[in-house]
Amino acid sequence: MKLITTIREMQSFSSDVKSSGKTITFVPTMGFLHDGHASLLKKGREVGDILVMGIFVNPTQFGPKEDYASYPRDLKKDLVVAEANKVDVVFNPTAEEIYPTGFQTYIDVEHLSKYLCGISRPGHFRGVATVVAKLFNIVMPDIAIFGEKDFQQLVVIKRMVRDLNMEVNIIDMPIVRESDGLAKSSRNSYLNMDERKAALCLCNALIKGKGIFNNGIKDANTILKEARNIIETEPLAVIDYIKVCDINTLEDLEKITDRALLAVAVKIGGNRLIDNCILG
Ligand code: PAJ
Repeated sequence: MKLITTIREMQSFSSDVKSSGKTITFVPTMGFLHDGHASLLKKGREVGDILVMGIFVNPTQFGPKEDYASYPRDLKKDLVVAEANKVDVVFNPTAEEIYPTGFQTYIDVEHLSKYLCGISRPGHFRGVATVVAKLFNIVMPDIAIFGEKDFQQLVVIKRMVRDLNMEVNIIDMPIVRESDGLAKSSRNSYLNMDERKAALCLCNALIKGKGIFNNGIKDANTILKEARNIIETEPLAVIDYIKVCDINTLEDLEKITDRALLAVAVKIGGNRLIDNCILG
């Protein structure tokens, strides 16, 4: 396995791979890897020739009061996980390499970035779209793999790829959960024991909502009321949003006619966690 830290070396590696007729699959991450990331790597190993994983904690997707500085990092352990998942190349640039002095070009997926997490995290998806576009230009993947855990991110990236005619196939992968249902996340490491227990209210709210939907209730407000109730009975939880929305436009739905996204963001003791499920 190769560890590459410069853009020049990554681009030259990718150019060589492409001219040899092989395909590149790319899994971008911010590191501190868990089984959710590993599921993307496993898929990546199946679908292409050369598997590249990005590890880059991207400063432009964090707000000024967010956790960029304290975001968990453990490159040594991540490299062991990468090796175990048969990654060919880990691309791990510095922030200065990606954003040199004078950097000023951003990608704004205007409409889709305004909903859900975009409301409490202004600028977040601009940072995500910008770094993913840059990473695509550097790694030149044929396929890139993302998790449904960050559903809005997935929708934003798919839109960007279409709008900017990027020749990358996006594959999405289901959410990987802990045995008790909590969606795996690098940020779960912030939680103390009480918060870890309280965090179950996210997936329990989704299970409740999905149960009601599966019993034939298609009215979003009825589903939301019951789901919200589960979170509101948890003293450590403060709801950021809970929404039933269109899976493509992310606009609020009142009646579910086909499929819908049930998405939730909750602060547990100051730590913001997200989760979602598809209804239908
Ligand atoms: P990060 O949070 O490290 O996630 C990297 C990828 O792993 C994303 O596609 C995310 O959706 C996926 N993922 C995270 N938890 C998951 C889980 N429990 N099950 C399945 N997939 C999961 O998302 C980012 O990094 C960044 O925004 C990035 C795209 C790398 C751009 O900086």
